[in-house]
Amino acid sequence: MTGEATLNDSDIARIAARIDRPIVLVGLMGAGKSTVGRKLASMLGRSFIDADDAIVEAAQRSISEIFDEFGEAYFRDGERRVIARLIDENGGVIATGGGAFVDDETRALILERAIAVWIDCDIDTLVERTSRRNTRPLLRNGDPKAILTDLFEKREPYYSQAQVRVLSEDGPHKDTARAIIEAIGKWL
Ligand code: S3P
Repeated sequence: MTGEATLNDSDIARIAARIDRPIVLVGLMGAGKSTVGRKLASMLGRSFIDADDAIVEAAQRSISEIFDEFGEAYFRDGERRVIARLIDENGGVIATGGGAFVDDETRALILERAIAVWIDCDIDTLVERTSRRNTRPLLRNGDPKAILTDLFEKREPYYSQAQVRVLSEDGPHKDTARAIIEAIGKWL
């Protein structure tokens, strides 16, 4: 869905005016949720918040430290609470960590109160993008391509419940943001 710019500024403004809920971006690590989210928010004239950043701020620890000190279950608990708070407080665009939408309670909340957008992406692009930073605990122990392939298989049934799906190719993030606006416009 990326590529051709099919929407002009007034199309975007018209769709933006009809969006009455937060937009929550879901999908695997490396799909571009934060970068695309920032671009999408600025195109829609909305605020942007990254749920992982909010978790780090609330815990005063990095994601890796939270996993190492307290474990994944503790992280997921905090993630659920933070996303619930962000949905309450934020009418804009919220990027979530790749596992958030797999949690039944978090997913139900997002589907009820927001528009969930799954940024789908091929595994090789995810491997390439996630190799640029070493901040993701789930990718530290093993071959990233095998881990991401396994996570895709396990999580695809959940991600596919999002109201909107957009394919992110290895092109400019603004094309993906535009494709999201177009897909939301069709869905609304
Ligand atoms: C995770 C994804 C990460 C972060 C944590 C766990 C996951 O966020 O929440 O490392 O379970 O896929 P990004 O998807 O933003 O990398």
